[in-house]
Amino acid sequence: MSLKFITAKEAATYVNHNDHVGFSGFTPAGCPKAVPGAIAELAMEEHAKGNPFKIGIFSGASAGDLMDGALARANAVKFRTPYQSNKDLRARINAHDTEYFDMHLSELPQSLRYGFLGDIDVAIIEAADVTEDGEITLTSAVGIVPTIARMAKKIIIELNEYHPKELKGMHDIYEPLDPPLRREIGVYDVADRLGTPCVKVDPAKIIGIVRTNIPNEGKPFAPVDDVTQAIGNNVADFLAKELREGRIPAEFLPLQSGVGNVANAVLGAMGSNKEIPAFNVYTEVIQDAVIDLMKAGRVKFASGCSLSISGEVVKELYSNLDFYKEHILLRSQEISNNPEVARRLGLIAINTALEADIFGNINSTHILGTKMMNGVGGSGDFTRSAYLSIFTTPSTAKNGCISSFVPMVSHMDHSEHSVKIIVTEYGVADLRLKSPIQRAEEIINNCVHPDYKPLLRAYLQMGVKGHTPQNLQACFGMHQAFTETGDMRNTDWNTFK
Ligand code: COA
Repeated sequence: MSLKFITAKEAATYVNHNDHVGFSGFTPAGCPKAVPGAIAELAMEEHAKGNPFKIGIFSGASAGDLMDGALARANAVKFRTPYQSNKDLRARINAHDTEYFDMHLSELPQSLRYGFLGDIDVAIIEAADVTEDGEITLTSAVGIVPTIARMAKKIIIELNEYHPKELKGMHDIYEPLDPPLRREIGVYDVADRLGTPCVKVDPAKIIGIVRTNIPNEGKPFAPVDDVTQAIGNNVADFLAKELREGRIPAEFLPLQSGVGNVANAVLGAMGSNKEIPAFNVYTEVIQDAVIDLMKAGRVKFASGCSLSISGEVVKELYSNLDFYKEHILLRSQEISNNPEVARRLGLIAINTALEADIFGNINSTHILGTKMMNGVGGSGDFTRSAYLSIFTTPSTAKNGCISSFVPMVSHMDHSEHSVKIIVTEYGVADLRLKSPIQRAEEIINNCVHPDYKPLLRAYLQMGVKGHTPQNLQACFGMHQAFTETGDMRNTDWNTFK
């Protein structure tokens, strides 16, 4: 069969109102970049004629502005799962223009296969190469592609010539069987391969190929500041101590690190800590710092499901592709984030909290309990199953008017049962073998900003009985003070006595 080249505008006409559309990509890496904009234009044309036009979107995780942003601005998103981080889409979600289903990333491919989420009408997949017999070489992410490519009724390929065909070999494409036939997932070492280098589809499903030449979107990381540097150093010093004291094996354990500036600073600090040996990474998103450390010989191998790296680092990687193909493997998110594998490999999981409570529960997703920020992402996949689960957060937000530590989280993503260590710029709270009261003392002493220590100590001394001394009238008093006065430091516990 010969491949048919079409324009993005033509491709968009194969997408209908109410379709469930599966997109490649994970972060802006690997997302289609031309067809989503054409679908957005089509939606606006239909809206102008008074017709409804909205699609449901499945993708690996967040997406670039060319996809999530364009479709959100056109109000063309009926539902979105499993994760997002685009400001226009976030606004749609918080305004209920788009229904958002926030789910653990590792679960999406199997939930699709189990039939929990309906059909996939169209899959739109960015490729570095595609052959006439339906072999697709992906670009810088795997995400959910193996599953959506197999399940979709129609496939549109964006052949992005910015990415070299020689990427073939960096991906490991594997879908596990479903229960009751599922066997163990045979990753015993971060570099173990399970599947094939390409996604194989029935070529008859490929309705057209859109040629593009567009780099991944993405902004460079903010320079490390005093707070992120201090958090990074505290994590690295803590892990070096665990190693010294024999609670981490001498060869060290693979690292999973979350997204964003704090994660980048933590990796940087670990790279420069002389006590920590060169280590492996088994994570979801491979960021700039991993590539820098690999070049410096501090990271030995990185397995992830997305190369979410800035433009300059992409150039470095593509100019030394042979070296990096020996040291990097991209897998689907149900393997990169697999709880079975995380538990087996003994991952050290480091993720970021928006808010924590003094008893060790974590809110990663909801601003003041109501507004969706991004989503739980892969943090739950790793936190629950890791060898050691660490959460980092600056001690305050909004110029000190919000304490990241409150009596009770306003939304809970990770419970006290899974969270082992919390780190801020002030220090480390080790929650292992501690009761709720002991955890609260450890967190207040080591992590809380000095402005908020007296307030949180006073909360503990309100005389509430029981294992966890929560005052159910007062536990959101700090949130209330912020809502009413703009500053949590104005909290007055007497109001609740
Ligand atoms: N209450 C209210 N607002 C808060 C807050 C709190 N306790 N803590 C932070 N904020 C605000 C910040 O002021 C900032 O606001 P702005 O956008 O208006 O500037 C915003 O929330 C984001 O905070 P920031 O510190 O810049 O976040 P970040 O970039 O470090 O990301 C998470 C933090 C938690 C949002 C991000 O890590 C995430 O989405 N995590 C969940 C998914 C995940 O962990 N994935 C990794 C698995 S591999």
